[in-house]
Amino acid sequence: MCGIVGYVGPRDSQAILISGLARLEYRGYDSAGIAVIDAAGDLDMRKRAGKLQVLRDDLAAHPMPDGTTGIGHTRWATHGGPTDANAHPHLADDDKLAVIHNGIIENFSELKAELLSLGYTFRSETDTEVAAVLLGHEYQASGDLVAAFRAVAKRLEGAFTLLAMHQDQPGLVVGARRNSPLVIGLGEGENFLGSDVAAFVEHTRSALAIGQDEIVAITPEGVTVTDFAGEEVSVEPFEVVWDASAAEKGGWSSFMAKEVSEEPDAVANTIRGRVHDGQVVIPELEGLDDLFTGIRRVIIVACGTAAYAAQTGAYAIEQWTRVPVSVELAHEFRYRDPVIGDDTLVVSISQSGETMDTLMAVKYARERGARTLSICNTQGATIPRESDAVIYTHAGPEVAVASTKAFVAQITALYLFALHVARLRGSLPAVEAADHVRELEAVPAKIQRVLDEEQAHIEQFSRWMADTQSVLFLGRHVGYPIALEGALKLKEISYIHAEGFAAGELKHGPIALIEPGQPVFVLVPSPRESAELHKKVVSNIQEIRARGARVIAVAEEGDAAVLPFADEVLRIPLAGPFFEPLLAVVPLHIFAMGLATAKGLDVDQPRNLAKSVTVE
Ligand code: M6R
Repeated sequence: MCGIVGYVGPRDSQAILISGLARLEYRGYDSAGIAVIDAAGDLDMRKRAGKLQVLRDDLAAHPMPDGTTGIGHTRWATHGGPTDANAHPHLADDDKLAVIHNGIIENFSELKAELLSLGYTFRSETDTEVAAVLLGHEYQASGDLVAAFRAVAKRLEGAFTLLAMHQDQPGLVVGARRNSPLVIGLGEGENFLGSDVAAFVEHTRSALAIGQDEIVAITPEGVTVTDFAGEEVSVEPFEVVWDASAAEKGGWSSFMAKEVSEEPDAVANTIRGRVHDGQVVIPELEGLDDLFTGIRRVIIVACGTAAYAAQTGAYAIEQWTRVPVSVELAHEFRYRDPVIGDDTLVVSISQSGETMDTLMAVKYARERGARTLSICNTQGATIPRESDAVIYTHAGPEVAVASTKAFVAQITALYLFALHVARLRGSLPAVEAADHVRELEAVPAKIQRVLDEEQAHIEQFSRWMADTQSVLFLGRHVGYPIALEGALKLKEISYIHAEGFAAGELKHGPIALIEPGQPVFVLVPSPRESAELHKKVVSNIQEIRARGARVIAVAEEGDAAVLPFADEVLRIPLAGPFFEPLLAVVPLHIFAMGLATAKGLDVDQPRNLAKSVTVE
């Protein structure tokens, strides 16, 4: 989960590398570094522990010669702490070779022992330096960076994207990938490599996706892609749909604030082009009807917030398609020998499309004969390319580590998927399906109303709660995953203890946590749409209130039943039961952001985390 960028061309590369790293910093921010081959043909390198700004300041204070071939890295530490020495690039071959890496090389100890026995020495604790030294060793043998890569890639176990350049071969950057992302950006007389398109989107929108176990060599004139055996392979071109400015803060105080404000657009853009005459028809799924008509079971795999989107969507998928649906954390799924086969559709959800646990779950499912569909926000990512079909969410680039707009887009995509499959299977009366479509289409404007009418109130109220030590979240039915999402968001960016519970579970243990003053958010179902559930949740509120809880109810407009028992009521517009979560989550996102901001924390780059978890 590091960010990687490479450049060859006529321009000085430092600025290109640094701005690429700025766009990739969401992938990791423990350290940053760059290396360039300067005009004199020497390899120069600078790396610093800490966020990219530390490197920027260092380069400003002590400029380094510039050059037209360069690589850059922003790190999320795995092997070795976040120190200058462990930062990338790592040098080898008498400091003429620079290497950067994303992933984990599982057999690095064996390789290191072998290299130590050959007399090599190491300056860091990283697995990357082992790959660098091995690459230097192989380069010594062949004098050819691509050939050296081929020899090294075959010996590495685990997941890796490696980029390297050698001062004896200026104008060349070579990369290899296995189970870790790498995309190519095609320019005019210049070419780029990046962990994702954000690395180069300000320079070109023309991209190539590299497959598994492939090696790419870029020069200013062209790109060559071969497999690990050296056979040339064809690559899939694609046009980046994101605008470079979409990944800029654009006057907002944080990317998270910007992305929360984009939640209405994320839903609207995900729906766009997929509703025709009141019916959902997903063009990307055209010709794949048998993928959905023959299945007897759906398993959704995902991690973190994406898994809560899965849990939310599962209710509608099962109800509308009448196909049994289960949701599993991707990292648990493949270690329990699940019963799956060609009648199972495994749906993966991932904003980044690179989450290693989710990718491995998809591969596992495919190997066992299951059909696979991915719901993904990032073009050219690995998970959609490993799946039989993909539904892209069109949330636009999500930069803040805390996932917000992607969450609502994922639920939207699941509803579209459910309605598409329900139409194919004839499991939902057309009138009912059309009602759901109308409800879904009304969601963006309703989210906008929550933002317009509640944001200032919630922000003020989150400031009052800045000293809170613990917050609980309760929900039932589709409100339950929203409670989990509310708790995750708060933990993640405000470092406050938070737990989400199914409200019905309260009396089975968690109610013991309630003491006077304990803040509890309660997701209250609509009394019009879900009278039975509403009554139960109001009873739950009374139970915790009787024990001194401070109740913050998220309830629909006009629900007066909660008023006598709630200390605060956050209002959401009226919506059908499946659509409430898309509205109710918005106050929780605003609250987490408001509270973290009140504590003076960096909401975009919370400690210990990275946006894209590309290690298991
Ligand atoms: O890129 P993905 O959607 O696969 O990421 C999954 C989780 O790592 C992610 O949702 C994480 O939980 C978020 N940081 C939560 O806000």
